[in-house]
Amino acid sequence: MEEVMGVCEEIRKKATSNKGNLVSIERLFAPAANNVICRFASGKRTRQDDPDLIEMMEASKDVFLLWSTDLFKMAQMYSMCFSKLCQWFGVKNNVYEVSEKLNKKLHKLAAQGHADKDGSFIERHLYMQEELKDNQTSVFCKRQGMDYLWGGLFDMFLAGNYSQGKAFNKNLLTINISISGTDTTSTFMEWVLIFLMTYPDIQAKVFREIQETLGGREATLQDRSRLPYVNCFIEEVGRVCQMVDLAGAHQVEEDTVFRGFLFPKGTQVFGDMSAVRTEPSYWKDTDEFRPERYLTAGGQFQAEERIAPFGVGKRRCMGEVLARAEAFLFTVGVVQNFEFRQNGETGPPSLLPMSGMIGYPQNYNAVVIPRT
Ligand code: HEM
Repeated sequence: MEEVMGVCEEIRKKATSNKGNLVSIERLFAPAANNVICRFASGKRTRQDDPDLIEMMEASKDVFLLWSTDLFKMAQMYSMCFSKLCQWFGVKNNVYEVSEKLNKKLHKLAAQGHADKDGSFIERHLYMQEELKDNQTSVFCKRQGMDYLWGGLFDMFLAGNYSQGKAFNKNLLTINISISGTDTTSTFMEWVLIFLMTYPDIQAKVFREIQETLGGREATLQDRSRLPYVNCFIEEVGRVCQMVDLAGAHQVEEDTVFRGFLFPKGTQVFGDMSAVRTEPSYWKDTDEFRPERYLTAGGQFQAEERIAPFGVGKRRCMGEVLARAEAFLFTVGVVQNFEFRQNGETGPPSLLPMSGMIGYPQNYNAVVIPRT
């Protein structure tokens, strides 16, 4: 809740001091999302204006943006040597350079952790690693764990020492959750604001439900089942916002024939999730933004497996529970406190994302009216 209040304070400050109540939505939620991760990982909170935190957030955004151009996306996804080559040839802003920056910042955070079975995420992890270090079947065994849990391409680039079996360490762990957990949540919340502004009637309905149910008090996670329309709205944003269209790298476990094409065992595949989320034969009115589609006849929210915003299977998003909790609390918090309106001078926000590993929305200056 502290992070929700922090974001609301920041928005209020900007809205009341900027001409025309204009607030840029870009990176509005990033410090809060990053802080949730820092606290989750290390048990400690960082001040929002902490230079280390700001640099860390910039670095994690840079990692995703570097994967945005076709050349980088293709080359760095398919060849772990490529980013190293970029570094050798002095290419500015290569993944190695940015990761190095991030690594230094996170090193500070991780260095404070010590093995403790009841401690923070890092501390529990260190404890398990120590306990199970010789158990070859455990994901906490160095070699085994790396292959099983963090053996993704992502980690090879970031750790840079995959082949020596050193990648499974606490620095990498924090890098992984920091990068995976900051820009995803904060970008999703930017999309939430965009859809609230695009559909003012839906925004009014979301607000009404919150007011009628909570009567002005702050939300807790126990309120989720009492706010079905809010859940429906968040679910529909997840379906249409095109934030993570491509799932992570997966491998075909056995020879598989799909639509007449043979995918031999071991082939690397990336699921096109946007095709699943917009399949017209299933969704019918796929182009329509309609939160009600997840309401049961009894007025309850029913999640839709087909949207799979967090992927599917064993390697689905590790942070799903946290991300869903954040999306709920941030959405309720900001709608309770502000009305978000389109900027009459620039017209409605674009619903098209910028190209990249994460579909960032195009920046937009929203008109933000504090409700009290
Ligand atoms: C709205 C927020 C988020 C979205 C939409 C999202 C989405 C995804 C998707 C689509 C994947 C790939 C799954 C697959 O390949 O099938 C993924 C993986 C992952 N996510 Fe998230 N994520 C979000 C937030 C988070 C948060 C908050 C964390 C960390 C606490 C996190 C940590 C991870 C990790 C570690 C992986 C890799 C899992 C693996 O390879 O085994 N994510 N996420």
